[in-house]
Amino acid sequence: NTIESGKVTWESPSNIALVKYWGKKKDQIPENPSISFTLNNCKTITSLSFSKKENTSDFEFEVFLDGEKKDDFKPKIETFFKRVEVYLPFLKYYKFKIDTKNTFPHSSGIASSASGMSALALCLMSIEKQLSESNVASGAVEASLNNEYFNQKASFLARLGSGSACRSIEGDLIVWGKNKTVEGSSDLFGIKYPYKVHDNFKNYQDTILLVDKGEKQVSSTVGHNLMFNHPYAQNRFNQAHDNLDALKPILESGNLDAFIQLIESEALTLHAMMMTSMPYFILMKPNTLEIINKIWTFRAETGLHISFTLDAGANVHVLYPKNEASKILEFIKNELVAYCQNGHYICDQIGLGANQL
Ligand code: PMV
Repeated sequence: NTIESGKVTWESPSNIALVKYWGKKKDQIPENPSISFTLNNCKTITSLSFSKKENTSDFEFEVFLDGEKKDDFKPKIETFFKRVEVYLPFLKYYKFKIDTKNTFPHSSGIASSASGMSALALCLMSIEKQLSESNVASGAVEASLNNEYFNQKASFLARLGSGSACRSIEGDLIVWGKNKTVEGSSDLFGIKYPYKVHDNFKNYQDTILLVDKGEKQVSSTVGHNLMFNHPYAQNRFNQAHDNLDALKPILESGNLDAFIQLIESEALTLHAMMMTSMPYFILMKPNTLEIINKIWTFRAETGLHISFTLDAGANVHVLYPKNEASKILEFIKNELVAYCQNGHYICDQIGLGANQL
């Protein structure tokens, strides 16, 4: 390794799944395929400084969030480094400083693991690229990394940090998990959805209603594990395949009613899996249900294409097409924001993926 030190910076977005990933095998291999919208405004910005070190027996790094040292982030990153070390042999030859910040409030209940882990994976790939380029210059290897390899390996590494993070490298629609519907799909990394998408989904809006900003009572790791021996697991995994299959003609034709039916069912099924596992748990809050009911009533009354999806938490992602945004936003502000903790919500939309800064 010929480079003494350096610094790389990436911003990487969060994503919201339409067909949900819930249940995994070892090495973060998903039990079923998923597809997500990459978001645009909810991002993590991470700088990774690196410098050569003498002792190569351990990982050496420090983590800062908003300039403040965060030792409680270290175990998760240590685990990540251990998992990816075989794919990034330089890791033990450098010491690192990870400087990270989010564009959304840290304790907002928005999963920062997808944006955070993808940003870190991209920073590591940039270092690998610099090292490989310096090896090309010195004649040690012939060719540097191309873009496709770079993104694919970044997604592969991000997956090992947090499964859904592998869907945050690119946009605007990303598929992860081997399936028969999407050619080229893989359990190992996310790929761009390769088929026609109707203009109805262009600039699709996601207004995130922050119902509960507290720590989740049950982590997604625990939730995934409860799919082992879950009485409905196999049916659920089959259903995810079927829903991805059904989504393809919906995305092509722009059939918003069918889209809404599919994604709302996916969200409720995800939470149904939580309620029917052993031990069982509920991540929705009373206000989550208030919001869902209000959305259904408003949709029935107006015919507008407002819909919702949920993550593994109480917050509600309100999804709707751009050309209906003014009426729907007015409704959100007048009727739904009252159910948010401290009236807090975030306006986002479908985005194109990460950027190097
Ligand atoms: O990436 P993880 O392990 O935090 O799992 C996230 C799972 C869901 O957000 C609930 C669904 C998904 O596909 O993103």
